Amino acid sequence: MMSGVFISVEGGDGTGKSTQIKVLAEKLRHVGKKVLTTREPGGSSGAEIIRKLLVTGDKDRWSSVTEALLVFAARRDHLEKTILPAMADAKIVITDRFADSSTAYQGIAGGAGEEMIAGLRKLVVGNHEPDLTLILDAPVADGLARADVSKGEGRFEDKGEAFHQSVRDAYLKIAKENLKRCVVIDATGDVEAVAERIEAAIRERLPQLL
Ligand code: TYD
Repeated sequence: MMSGVFISVEGGDGTGKSTQIKVLAEKLRHVGKKVLTTREPGGSSGAEIIRKLLVTGDKDRWSSVTEALLVFAARRDHLEKTILPAMADAKIVITDRFADSSTAYQGIAGGAGEEMIAGLRKLVVGNHEPDLTLILDAPVADGLARADVSKGEGRFEDKGEAFHQSVRDAYLKIAKENLKRCVVIDATGDVEAVAERIEAAIRERLPQLL
């Protein structure tokens, strides 16, 4: 029995996901909710090992198809070890990226194809899809300027502006095709302004939370 709530936060590199997740988690804790924040690639000890393979090294180290296989292996471990146990414990799980990242980065921008990702998604995620997906949208140049590559994790940032424009377009397509699950959040402006937009989306889509 899953009684928690599952929220994913998506968007291009440097759109401010991690900052906004911190703010949202704090608001939810303030009203007495149990919250677990996590991230992909990673979020469990096995998945963090796979993350290292994905985000370091030369930008052409892996093909998009291989990336997809790695990231879905990591996702399965993340689901089994972190997300599903927290849901069973009635927590609100907020993850920085989930399967839409694979559709955007590997399927569409990387060229592995949406069908391949959809197949893996069905196999690996099944019915454990997020209740709500917030897609943070901002111009690509802003995001790349803001992306933190200081930890040697710049492999995706190195793929260039055209790749990241394609990622942004891909997210907008995903949002249009999944209107019940996804909300696009304008991620331009200061942290407080974006946080207010997210709060409004939560109040509308998951009014039991805030
Ligand atoms: P992340 O740590 O969220 O980076 P950022 O904070 O810069 O957005 O993710 C690292 C990279 O992994 C990011 O460039 C996107 C990529 N990624 C994929 O390509 N596919 C996936 O399925 C996931 C989860 C991430």
